[in-house]
Amino acid sequence: MHTAVYPGSFDPITLGHVDVLQRAAGVFDRVVVAVLVNPRKAPAGEAEARAREIREAIAEALPELADRVDVTVFDGLTVDACRAVEARHIVRGLRAVSDFEAELQMAHMNHRLAPEIDTVFFMTALEYGYLSSSLVKEIARFGGDVSAMVPAGVASRLRASSEESPRL
Ligand code: PNS
Repeated sequence: MHTAVYPGSFDPITLGHVDVLQRAAGVFDRVVVAVLVNPRKAPAGEAEARAREIREAIAEALPELADRVDVTVFDGLTVDACRAVEARHIVRGLRAVSDFEAELQMAHMNHRLAPEIDTVFFMTALEYGYLSSSLVKEIARFGGDVSAMVPAGVASRLRASSEESPRL
């Protein structure tokens, strides 16, 4: 059984993340999506809510993978999250060359911390190469339509929160 961990902030999950997850599930028997709890940025409950949204997105967009994909939250090192589920690989997506430098540094650092763990990269589909969670949040905050960028449940949550506090 080959397990990989796909770590990230997923704040929120985008269709680019869904695409990378689908590609990873084509290679690994099991993929554990690990949502980072970042206590400096947001309380743990928010990571749990993001994890719930990811589970809903998988059930909706990738139902055939639901029994091979787990979603969990973690608040330590990615390599420790890997060891906890006996994963030997970390999955990351690369959208553009600009992602590469930081990802290379992280991959080397993680390998240094845990030599048994390697990072594998999937090229995000071209149509999602421009997507980022922070841009999605910014567009939604100002009332823009993000329904082609994120799973349906995420789009309606973002729409509802921008309607609750419109910024015109
Ligand atoms: O979606 P992101 O924000 O690009 O994901 C970054 C993430 C969560 C993969 C990275 O910040 C991370 O691994 N954090 C956990 C702490 C850790 O292991 N740090 C050392 C990385 S070399």
